[in-house]
Formats: sequence, C-alpha cells, structure tokens
Amino acid sequence: MNLSFVKDDTTLVDTPLSRPCDGQKKPVFLAHLSDIHVTAHSAWTKSDLFSKRFTGWINLKIFGRGFRFRNTNEILNALMKDIKSQNLDSIVFSGDATALGFEEEMAKAAELLGLNGPDAHPGLAVPGNHDYQTASCAAQNHFENHFSSWQKGERIGNHIYPFAQKIGDIWVVAVNSSTPNRLPWDARGCVGSDQLQRLKMLFDQLDDCRRILVTHYPVKIASGQKERKIRALRDLDSLLNVATKGKVSLWLHGHRHDQFYHPTSPDVPFPVLCAGSATQNGKWSYSRYAILNGKLGVECRSFNPGTGLFHKAESFDVDLPYTY
Ligand SMILES: [Fe+2]
Ligand SMILES: [Fe+2]
Repeated sequence: MNLSFVKDDTTLVDTPLSRPCDGQKKPVFLAHLSDIHVTAHSAWTKSDLFSKRFTGWINLKIFGRGFRFRNTNEILNALMKDIKSQNLDSIVFSGDATALGFEEEMAKAAELLGLNGPDAHPGLAVPGNHDYQTASCAAQNHFENHFSSWQKGERIGNHIYPFAQKIGDIWVVAVNSSTPNRLPWDARGCVGSDQLQRLKMLFDQLDDCRRILVTHYPVKIASGQKERKIRALRDLDSLLNVATKGKVSLWLHGHRHDQFYHPTSPDVPFPVLCAGSATQNGKWSYSRYAILNGKLGVECRSFNPGTGLFHKAESFDVDLPYTY
C-alpha cells in the first residue's frame, strides 16, 4: 500500500486508496502515544502512606521504575517536536500520564504535551490505572481536569465517558477502562455496566463513519495471550461484545509498554494496536497512523538517544474491516 504519511492530497492520485471505497474523502493522520509516566514534586498526605500510592513510590524509588523513566521530560520534548513537524490531524493518548496519580504530575504531563500552550495540538485522551492511583485522585477528576481540552466530543448527557470525536471522516471513541484499586498488587481495570450501556447508546447515535476505539487496557498481550488476571480488564468480554456490535474497525490501547499489533482474528474481529511506552528508556515508541477507506498505514517511531530525535523504526499496512 502506498498510503503516504505526507499530508498532501496529491498522494492519493494513482494509489489503490484513491478509489471511492466507503466514502471517506481524505486520509486522517493520527499520532498514538501512551504510558509516559511523568513524575513531579508532589504533596503527600498521611492517607497516601496507607494507599497504593506508597507501594507505587517504593517501586519508583527502590525497584528501578524511576530509573527506567529518568529521561521522560527530554523525550517528551523530542516527541512533541516530532509530532508538530508532521501536521497530523490529532493525537491519541491512551493513558498513564503519571507515575503516582498526583495532581502535580497531571499538570506537568499536560504541560509537556503542550495541552495549554498557544500552539496546543488537538487530541483525545483516556486515563490509565496510574492516573487513578488512589480513589481520592479519581474522585476529584484530576486527570479529566488537566486533560479536558483532549476530552471534547459527543457524549451521553453529562457523563465524561465514553465520548466520541469526529476527526475528518472517522469517529474516535474514548472509553475509560481504568479504576482505582485498593490492594498494592491489583492493577486490574473495569469499564463498568453503566459505561457499557452508554457506549451502546453512543454507537447508535453516531453516523456511519469508520469507528476507532481507544482504551488504556489491552485486548491481549504482545504474545497473543490474555493479560494476567491481576493486570487485566475485568469486563473485557463485555466490551469486546459492545465494540463488535458497534462496528468498531480498530482498537488502540496502552498499558503494556511494548509496541505491538494483532491482526483481525476469530475472537477479535478488528485489528488491535498497542503504542508502547513513549518514555521508558530503551522502549521509547509511538505510532503514526494514516487511515483512508478501509486501509491503515502504520509507522512505528522510536527515540534515538544518539541524535536526540525520533526516527522511523518500522512501517506496515493493515486492512480495516467494515464498509460504511
Ligand atoms: Fe504504564
Ligand atoms: Fe497502565
């Protein structure tokens, strides 16, 4: 496939994608990044010492997590420069903006991603489990408050999730799959029956344009196996069922820090892509997508510490199901 990543309509001439397949007139160009795990000097309270935040801090300071993310700020600066040089339509962020879910970390993550700057890039964001590290930070909507400019869209009533953004001729549908968990070893997610019900209603209300689903939690891990129970999405089967009936043709997620792709399979009737962690040392990945008429061009980009820049690591094409 010759779906160029140059945002220029002339690239459509004489390519297989120029045929009118499902009515999409122009390609849509997206960046997909995830799991940036920003840290910031934050104010601890007594109750934090008895929460999952404390074990998260031990993991960060003693068991090497902080070391693995030691260049986060520098890498995010390079990443945003790379994204801005490409004139993409939107950024999809699939969660884990923070390490410990502190509001200060949310604010810094939003600043590093340029959400509130004069040349802020359009985007769509869902929270990760680290952004809901405690029940208190989830209840106070710290993530939603700091990422509000990337949470605009069609929704059901006043409920924040799910919501859908129309980008060109495609819908990108954001689902919150993260919940606070009390036990230190519990990293499970859950969409919940109420949100699933609203997702069904939202799908019914959207026009017949291609639909892309975004969550933090994966469908499968890189090997194709199911995620371990203590890290898995509790109601994955229900979400898969609603997504399939809602004619989703692509699922984007984070949570896992490796970049990987699963093609359509008998149990998952659409391709699934994980962006990997944009900032974990040695992994440093994000993806660019070009979507047009049932074709998806994927370009995996990786940070090179030698040049201080992101470079193309790999590219491939994917057929998307459904004609609209
Ligand atoms: Fe993560
Ligand atoms: Fe996560």
